[in-house]
Amino acid sequence: MAQVVLPNDANPLGNILGGKVMHLIDIAGAIAAHRHARSHVVTASVDSLDFLHPVRVGQIILLRAFVTRAFHTSMEVEVNVYLEDYIKGERRQTSSAFLTYVAVDEAGKPVPVPPLLPRTGDERRRYREASERRRRRLALAARAHRRYFEKENQHPGGPNDRREP
Ligand SMILES: CC(C)(COP(=O)(O)OP(=O)(O)OC[C@H]1O[C@@H](n2cnc3c(N)ncnc32)[C@H](O)[C@@H]1OP(=O)(O)O)[C@@H](O)C(=O)NCCC(=O)NCCS
Repeated sequence: MAQVVLPNDANPLGNILGGKVMHLIDIAGAIAAHRHARSHVVTASVDSLDFLHPVRVGQIILLRAFVTRAFHTSMEVEVNVYLEDYIKGERRQTSSAFLTYVAVDEAGKPVPVPPLLPRTGDERRRYREASERRRRRLALAARAHRRYFEKENQHPGGPNDRREP
């Protein structure tokens, strides 16, 4: 996916907003997941994300997304982000992200996805490493959900908060 960075996408310094890059990453990743699963998909998680170089107004932002592994109903997608300066003829990588998409039916219920068959050495390495990333991601998510998520229907100030105001 390629887009020119327009002033509307940028902060006052003329650099693309992080949120805009995250949006593009999600779109590019979802397209890869859709094309593999041939089904609706939802984003289940995004692993950590760093922004190494600012992408400036007028530069091109390029995103390359591919499924690294399909599990049962979920797929891991790697998205690499590059900036391209067509005046200087330069391309540099600015971010790399791993996202998990889950294939769902019309009701939002997870449905199985076809397996991914890695062919090249690089694809096989990414496929192997995806298992370990998934193990760590799910363990981290379970811990974060226990620690930081409020219990269902017990949000402070919410309709079920029975404390005295
Ligand atoms: C993602 C979602 C469908 C998972 O539903 P669920 O009831 O937890 O379903 P399951 O427990 O059966 O898990 C389904 C798959 O999701 C994976 N999954 C669930 N939570 C995950 C997480 N935090 N990170 C990575 N994968 C996750 C499971 O490992 C499982 O994969 P597998 O079938 O390949 O083994 C559900 O949480 C959802 O709809 N979330 C909202 C998605 C959304 O709207 N995203 C847009 C931004 S809000």
